[in-house]
Amino acid sequence: MNHFQAPSSLSAPIIQSLLRTDRIGQVLSIEKEVESTNMTATTLFRNGASHGTVVLAERQTSGRGRLGRQWFSPPNHNLYCSVILEVPSSSSQLSWLPLLTGMSIIESLHKELGIRLSLKWPNDIVIQSHKLGGVLCEGITDSRNRYCVVSGFGINVNMRKEDFPPELQDVATSLSIETGKIQDRNRLISSILAILAGNFTLLEKRYFETIRDCYLFLCSTIGQKIRVDLASGACLEGLAEDIGLDGALHIRPTLTETCFPSLENGIIKIRSGDIIHVR
Ligand code: BTN
Repeated sequence: MNHFQAPSSLSAPIIQSLLRTDRIGQVLSIEKEVESTNMTATTLFRNGASHGTVVLAERQTSGRGRLGRQWFSPPNHNLYCSVILEVPSSSSQLSWLPLLTGMSIIESLHKELGIRLSLKWPNDIVIQSHKLGGVLCEGITDSRNRYCVVSGFGINVNMRKEDFPPELQDVATSLSIETGKIQDRNRLISSILAILAGNFTLLEKRYFETIRDCYLFLCSTIGQKIRVDLASGACLEGLAEDIGLDGALHIRPTLTETCFPSLENGIIKIRSGDIIHVR
């Protein structure tokens, strides 16, 4: 693979010229370095930024992952992006936002590169159990009681295996590792934002069944034996049976360390947690 050719820089004029939506990315800033694009987008929202505002960075010094983890964010090779999405704070649309973001990334990478990725519930972007990207959504309220979700996502684009730290080399991957080519980040992000805008419209129209069907098609967790480490510290094993109309994962437990009061017809519904596909 020829990695000696440097990937081109992110460019707002190029991304906006390729954008096929007027609902996301009309206001778009590209920073050389930030702590976390989610933090920058949160500050922008608190200073009045509105729906569809996008922050991209070439590098993050404190990239944040799910469940309090860090997100490895070296300069110039990847996508680190946060989008302000305004939704009513009490709405049933909220729980879908992280899953919808993951879906949009997979759909656009398939459209642009012909590559088949899948979602490990809720929104890990994987290929043959190697992680290519992830999504971190955070709900924010400003001083005037406006509410939004900052949907942040990171995608490993032009990293070589040796660019990852040793502990990630066997569990992470990138688009250039998978395709053998340097990829054009401007083209990819404009496609992702356009598809996210289209999927967000489905959510606004409350087409939950359509969204769930699309999600199920892309999700590799359903039908698998899984182990879940819950935020409470509890752990359960079982069969991942379905996704609810709210995006929750339905699990038929085979082994639990804890007694779950929320068992409905033998099913536990979880809304967050760390899943391991058990063979
Ligand atoms: C995960 O743990 O899978 C989620 C990773 C999300 C990382 C992205 S990179 C852009 C945005 N800013 C952050 O600090 N985190 C998200």
